Amino acid sequence: MSKRALITGITGQDGSYLAKLLIDKWYKVFGLYRRTSSPNMWRILSLGIQNEIRLIPGDMTDMASISNAIIQAEPDEIYNLAAQSFVGTSFEQPLVTAHVDGIGVVMVLEAIKQINRKIKLYHASTSELFGNGRVITNPDHLDEKSVLWPVSPYAASKLYAFHQIRIYREAYGMFAVNGILFNHESPLRGMEFVTRKITNALARIKLGLQKTLELGNLDSRRDWGFAPEYVEAMWLMLQQSVPDDFVISTGESHTVREFLDLACQHLDLDPSVCVVQSKKLFRPIELNCLLGNSTKAKKVLQWEARTAFRELTKIMVDKDLERWQDYLNGKIFPWDAINDPLLY
Ligand code: NAP
Ligand code: GDD
Repeated sequence: MSKRALITGITGQDGSYLAKLLIDKWYKVFGLYRRTSSPNMWRILSLGIQNEIRLIPGDMTDMASISNAIIQAEPDEIYNLAAQSFVGTSFEQPLVTAHVDGIGVVMVLEAIKQINRKIKLYHASTSELFGNGRVITNPDHLDEKSVLWPVSPYAASKLYAFHQIRIYREAYGMFAVNGILFNHESPLRGMEFVTRKITNALARIKLGLQKTLELGNLDSRRDWGFAPEYVEAMWLMLQQSVPDDFVISTGESHTVREFLDLACQHLDLDPSVCVVQSKKLFRPIELNCLLGNSTKAKKVLQWEARTAFRELTKIMVDKDLERWQDYLNGKIFPWDAINDPLLY
């Protein structure tokens, strides 16, 4: 009999790639989806999986709807990916972030505890937990044992959830795990995140649709991987016999400036002409450097990142260029690329 999975955050970047992966593995896939005034289905449509998933309305701040989704889906596995996932917004909306990313996770844990403790739970934890902890202990690479020192309301909410996952695992013997994922990107990345903001804007600049791109701190470093590979790691974590937390990363870090320069190079654009730095896009506290060590994931899960930084940049630039060329050629416009880039 095919396995059943419930994904919260199915309309997001990871949710849609994970849904595709599980469908390919013959799972019955259910998705908790939040009602918004304009539906956000562009990723699901772009992967062509709309007829193969069952959507259940719900919200991470509404326990009744979470329980209802679990009762309806009868899942063997739950992937809790829903979150207010943008660090910048967490400074402006710290309480919403805490409700969705912190308390919401305990609602999922409680619902599982009450409905069926055999359900395996993957939780989308994050390298943001490490924050500027590296300043305290100065490790080369961050792993499962590194100091956690969050520097944003987003990371503080995720740290609360991280410990609750561990506590429910230890207290009630539940199979609940944290995937401590470093940044991962793709052509399905939200436009507010720096990589996609850059590739979308540069594609438009190349085609004469926009003149300049405004960015904040170009010196911060991130360990950027390719999202479709990272959802494989999520699945692998739930296939283990013992629940455990894993760091998922590439083991390389690059500055925002390097990403920008590579993307410009690929399009033959000069960043000194088309990029403007703006203080208003700097964060109240910056997480300066993220660099992961996924030795444990390689050993236990046999998981390793495969797409290198340069290739990732190229994949994203090429796709945004193709989207805007299609738009100019009068083809039906794909999804959200028309969103106002000034919003971000
Ligand atoms: P994303 O594209 O921003 O997707 C977030 C998802 O959460 C969307 O489906 C969104 O629904 C949903 N959501 C937000 N608030 C909700 C609420 N109150 N109730 C129900 N659903 C809600 O994020 P992502 O990049 O796929 O990331 C997936 C998860 O991994 C997140 O938890 C994120 O914090 C974490 N993470 C991401 C990365 C990364 O680099 N991508 C790294 C580490 C951890 P709408 O479509 O309605 O907005
Ligand atoms: N978004 C954005 N926009 N970031 C900018 C900009 C800009 O115009 N200019 C510079 N940056 C810098 C940010 O200050 C940050 O240092 C870096 O680019 C990356 O920012 P984001 O792409 O917004 O990602 P993030 O690292 O803050 O968070 C992402 O990764 C986390 C895992 O480490 C998100 O996906 C989180 O949900 C995830 O947990």
